[in-house]
Order: sequence, then C-alpha cells, then structure tokens
Amino acid sequence: MAQQERWGSRIGLVLAMAGNAVGLGNFIRFPAEAARNGGGAFLIPYFVALILMGLPLMWVEWAMGRRGGEFGQHSAPGIFQTFGRSGIWKYLGVLGLWSCMLIAAFYLYVETWCFAYAAYSFMGGFQNEAPTEFLNRLIGTTPNSVFAVSYWGLALFFGCIVLNIYILSRGLARGIEMVAKVAMPMLIVFAVVLAVRGLMITPDNDPKAQYSALTGLNFVWEPKLDKLTNPTVWLAAAGQIFFTLSIGMGAIHCYSSYLRRNDDIALTGATTAWTNEFCEVILAGTILIPISVAYLGLDKVQEMTQGGSGFDLGFMTLPTLFNDWGPFAPFAGFLWFGLLFLAAITSSLAIGQPFLAFLQSQFGMTRRRSAMVFGVLLLPLALLVATMDQNCFFNEYDFWAGTFALVVFAIIETILFAWVFGMDRGWEEITRGAELRVPRVFYYILKYITPVFIFIILLGSTFLPKGEVKVVGPDGSERIESRGWEPYVTAPFTGEPMPEWKWSPQGLIGKMLNVDLDDQVAAVTAEKAKATGDKLQELLEKERYLGDVYYYRSANRILMAALFAFLAFLVFIAWLRRGPEGSQA
Ligand code: PHE
Repeated sequence: MAQQERWGSRIGLVLAMAGNAVGLGNFIRFPAEAARNGGGAFLIPYFVALILMGLPLMWVEWAMGRRGGEFGQHSAPGIFQTFGRSGIWKYLGVLGLWSCMLIAAFYLYVETWCFAYAAYSFMGGFQNEAPTEFLNRLIGTTPNSVFAVSYWGLALFFGCIVLNIYILSRGLARGIEMVAKVAMPMLIVFAVVLAVRGLMITPDNDPKAQYSALTGLNFVWEPKLDKLTNPTVWLAAAGQIFFTLSIGMGAIHCYSSYLRRNDDIALTGATTAWTNEFCEVILAGTILIPISVAYLGLDKVQEMTQGGSGFDLGFMTLPTLFNDWGPFAPFAGFLWFGLLFLAAITSSLAIGQPFLAFLQSQFGMTRRRSAMVFGVLLLPLALLVATMDQNCFFNEYDFWAGTFALVVFAIIETILFAWVFGMDRGWEEITRGAELRVPRVFYYILKYITPVFIFIILLGSTFLPKGEVKVVGPDGSERIESRGWEPYVTAPFTGEPMPEWKWSPQGLIGKMLNVDLDDQVAAVTAEKAKATGDKLQELLEKERYLGDVYYYRSANRILMAALFAFLAFLVFIAWLRRGPEGSQA
C-alpha cells in the first residue's frame, strides 16, 4: 500500500478545504439564485439550511473522513464501509466517486472558459467582441446541431485537464495544498478589489449607471419575509447550500481522511464553512448583483436570472459592463475571470482527488499512475461535454450528478452516521480533539432534524410541479409564470384555483420525462402549422435537432448507469482482494 499521505500544515489544510468549497458556485450560482428568489428573501431559508443541514453535514463529513483515514480509507466507498456492518455501504459510497467523476467532466470545462475569458479580457478582447460571440468561438456552437466543436477550445480544455492531473499527481502537500496557499489569498484580493470598485458606482460619477451599486446591495441584504412560505425558495436555498459547501459527494471526506485521529475537526470544519460563506455572501454578494443592478436595474437583473444559472450574467453581461470602467476595464475583466478560475481550480482538484485516492488505497497504485488512470477515464466523459450541445451531456451531468445525487448521498450518509453507526459514537467522533465546543443542540439536530430536512428536500425536488400561474403585467398583458410548489401552498388561503398538475422540467420526474424537450417540440409543432418557406425550413431543422437531443440524452443516461456499474464493479474487485475482514464498524 502506498505511504500514508498527510497535509503539510494546518493553514494549508484550511486553505485547501476552503478552496474545495469556494468555487464557481459561490461567485456565479449564488448571486443568480439570490436574485431569482427575491434577494434578501432568499437569505433567510439559506441561513436556516446552513445551520440545520450544511454545518451539521460538514461536521459529519469531516468526522467520517478522519475515521475512514484511520483504516486507510480515503474515498467514499471505503469510508462508508467503516461505519456499517452490512456490505451494502461500500456500494452506496460508489455514488460519491460517480458524481465526482461526472461533475469533473463539466466543471473542468467551465474552468477552461474562465481561463480563456481571463486571458481575453486582459488582452482587451471584449472591447471589440461581444462575449456571446467569443463563447461561440470557444465552444463552437452551430445552431440547430447537437455537435459543437472548436479545436482551439478543445485544446485549451485538454490543457486544463492535464494541468489538474499534473497538480494531483504531485500529491497532497506538494500539489493541492501548494496551489491552495497561492490561489486562495489571491482570489480574495481580486474579489475585494472588484467589490470595492463596484461599490463606488453611482449615477453621479458614472453616466451610464442608472442606480448606485448600493441599490443592488440592499436588494441582497434587506430581509423580506414574504417568500418564506414558498417551498420553491427553500428548495433553491438547500440546493445552493449543498453545492457551495461541496457536501454530498465525498470530496470533503477525502480531504479530511488525511488527518490524524485526534486532530481537531470541529473548529476547522466550521472555519471552512464560514470561509465559504464569507466568500459567497459577503464577497460574491457585493460583486455580480450590485454591479449589474447599477447599470441594468433590478427588474432586468431579476428577469435575466429567471431561467438560467447566472452564467449569462457572469460571462455575458459583466464583461460588457466593465467596458464602462475605461482603462481599468481589461484589468477588471481579468480580475473577475481570474478569480473564477482560481476558485474553480481549487475545487476541481477536490473533485479529482477522491478517485485517485480510491485507486491508491484499493489497488495500491502510485500517485502518478492513479492520476493517469483518472485522466484516461475522464477523457471520454469530458470529450462528450466539449463536443456536444449542452442539452445533451453538460446539463445532464449537472443535474443528475451535480444536483440530485448530492441529496441522495447526503441522506444516505446521515442515516449511516446518526442511526447505523449511532449518534453517541458519532458525537464522540465529532468532538474528539475539538478546539471548539460544539453546542449540544447539534446532537439532536443531526439525529432528527437534518435527515427529515433532507428527506423533504428530496421529495420536493422529485415531484416538483410546474405550478403555472397567470400574471397580469402593469400594462394589462398576461403571461404564464412557473412557480413550482408555491401556488399549491397559497391557493387554500387566497381562494385561487390550483394550477393544473404538470411536471416541472427542473424536478426529477420532469427531467426523466424530458419535459423541457416536450415543451419545445410542442412549440415548434404549433409554429410549423403557420410557417412557410425559410421559416418552415428552420422549424424542421429545429425539430430534427430536438429529436437528436432526445436520442443523445438516452444514450447519456445509459452511459451514466454504465459508469456507476463499472465503479461498483471496481469496488467489488477491491473487496474481493481484501478478503472477508472488510468491515470495521
Ligand atoms: N463547492 C464548489 C463550488 O461552490 C463545487 C464543488 C462541488 C467542489 C463538488 C468540489 C466538489 O463551486
């Protein structure tokens, strides 16, 4: 077996863990979720989810990892197995390897974009070219085609993957930890500069600004109680907590498995969570929304975040807004995308390490060899992301592995830790060596509230309805808005009729049924009846494209299932080789 690795220093560990958590989720996803769900109204469910679910799970994952490490286990299957007697746990742990693999495939792609955007900003590229056009060149989009290939984009992507693999192959202290020690402070400095410059925007000193940046800041911070009864906002808040803290995928377990038996986890785990929150709520909350709101106004910004993930705001809008900052513009773009790249790379390393650790501890591979194997497995998944339209693979990985699997994994680990292993032993694990007195109330939160909370989230997002309501605009025009669970909760009080039941394209069932595609097909079919000539031709092409997307999505789901089976098979072989004394519970 390979020599046991360790973190080089406490500060290195904290920075690596913070690097793990602080990622694109903080700077892009959070502001968009906040804007979409009512700014300050979002923050209340968000902090409730942090306290009842995020922080407790953070401790659970640190505790599980540290204990797994004592038994030479550094990835979810082996770590899970040390907590329960039944042989099933290691297979449930496969979920952690599986989601990390799939997340890596699309996360690294976006990381590549951050790099390309940073370099292009620095060269002043966005002063002459619109960001949308640059992105199209970078990913090679062709309208109505499922294929999207750009050779230089692919080359950059490949370079980014190789860079990650190289860093991982240098090992924990000399690779991940060293990068985190440089990247994290840099990222914070970049963010502070941008936040301060952003806050200086007022209509007086900037003729293009409609409002002062404080308008956006107020929107983010002003607590509003009106959305608290809306389950959709709660789902969004809990989903954000999962993604941003990197919980529910085995990435935290892996990092903490390199600790020693009596090392503190209570304080360091909490520090990781608070650092993440500082970067997310304070820093990120002061950049994207306030700057966009100053130039575009609140309504426009809220509207822009309705459908998307904040990507448009961060990658398409912000670079053009920076252009208003005169000679500072290229530099501002560089700071923004540079900080995104730094945030991304410290996270992508964390997604890669579990699989390497798995190969090292189960198959006795060296670091370099395990890094190579990881690269070879990742490549086909990544190529599919980079050469195909986002509707086929990218978004699918994002949903199944990056959103849904986290909740499933979290509920499994909570039950395993608090009920199978037992909360008394669990509490001993969390508090052993603690340099922070963990309030006793978390014993009960973890045992009762966290599992119920996650279970409700799971149900809510599985059966998510569209919840269509008619909204009448100020000018009397009517439009349909999808509000998820909200109208079903408010209808009994307002006396309005409940909307007809339809699956939301964002819920599990809606995803499985490809509701989003069905809706698009229905729209095309309706238009086709009226269209002639070129327009008709275009609609026919669109129809063919949608047909292709159905096909590739199915192929992808088979691929994802096969990947799971393959990883489970590796686990099976690994335990076969170890003999019967597999469980240490
Ligand atoms: N927490 C990271 C973010 O906010 C994403 C991530 C997920 C990192 C999984 C590691 C593992 O972007």
